[in-house]
Amino acid sequence: MFEISEAGRLTECVEVEKFYAEKALNMLRSLGILLPNAAAKIDRVSEVVRIPIHSSFSKTAVDLLKNGGIPSKPCVDVFKVSSRGMKFTDFLRGVLPGDVLERVPRSYQHIGCIAIIHLPEDLVGYGSVVGEAIARVSPNVRAVYTSLTTEGEFRVRKLRKIWGEDVTETIHVEYGVKIALDVEKVYFNPTLSYEHWRVSEEVGDSEVVLDLFSGVGPYSLHIALKRSATCFAVDSNPWASIYLAKSIGLNKLKGRIVPVFSRVEDFLDLAEENYFNRAIVDLPHRSFEYLDSVLRVVSCRGTIHLYSIGGEELHTPRLPEGVKLLEVRRVLEYAPHKYIYGLKISKTCSQ
Ligand SMILES: C[S@@+](CC[C@H](N)C(=O)[O-])C[C@H]1O[C@@H](n2cnc3c(N)ncnc32)[C@H](O)[C@@H]1O
Repeated sequence: MFEISEAGRLTECVEVEKFYAEKALNMLRSLGILLPNAAAKIDRVSEVVRIPIHSSFSKTAVDLLKNGGIPSKPCVDVFKVSSRGMKFTDFLRGVLPGDVLERVPRSYQHIGCIAIIHLPEDLVGYGSVVGEAIARVSPNVRAVYTSLTTEGEFRVRKLRKIWGEDVTETIHVEYGVKIALDVEKVYFNPTLSYEHWRVSEEVGDSEVVLDLFSGVGPYSLHIALKRSATCFAVDSNPWASIYLAKSIGLNKLKGRIVPVFSRVEDFLDLAEENYFNRAIVDLPHRSFEYLDSVLRVVSCRGTIHLYSIGGEELHTPRLPEGVKLLEVRRVLEYAPHKYIYGLKISKTCSQ
């Protein structure tokens, strides 16, 4: 059975540079516009803070902040609503030994009605206490898992349940997009929600998009929800295509999505030359290996969004002829000093 996450509720917000965050928070709080019990979100990569506010107030908030000398822009996002402003670790104080509490990670992932934390191996014994604390601050959570490893070609997490029901299937909502998945059968990373949304904003109506290594299809779903574009979402995990098919039924899409259960190599061999206006290549450890074949199937002036892993700097291999690198951005810090970078590449043609 599916369970829709309350945490997936879209909330109005204002986005300010980190430098202005405290001043903006104080100002919005004193004006009564700030949403109580919802934590602001810091994007450590782009150094902006998203502040949740009461609905229908984003224009007013932006105007008032501007009068106070704070530049901002309206946004919508999903925020964690905590019970009376408490964090899950507050419920562990005095329950876990101090040195254990210190090593419990402060953050966890919230996917639909499921929470996933990465407990150090020797703390798994404290799992049920930690799980219960998480459930206390997120009442819609029905199961809490600790993640052990990420395995194989499908990048599926090995999980161990530490609290709650035996549920692994859920519906996660990001930016109003419903995404059906099973956390034990497919790859899904909710911290990429902004990237899914950001790419979809660039897509025009009537584009034909190739979403390679699509997983359960968040890029395609974001795109097809608001554009009458056609997306081919290719993944070799059959469960990814099955859950994408379910999500297509759950969302009121403007565009079309064709889930393709195939290895990317086979699909690219068969795809017609210059057929796609845009391609997304999301296999960060190996994306560059596919660039030549992707260029063949993307049309002139077409765009490629390619994700790759790097340290403080991204060292890219030499790019092939007929390609212009438009942008390199840090998308996510996935380990200390290790980042996923997003590259935007254009296919140039001589005439
Ligand atoms: C990093 S995940 C991509 C996630 C997805 N784009 C998202 O944003 O949620 C990589 C995906 O590539 C798939 N995969 C890995 N190797 C593949 C291959 N050779 N052909 C097709 N899919 C592959 C895995 O099953 C996995 O779903």
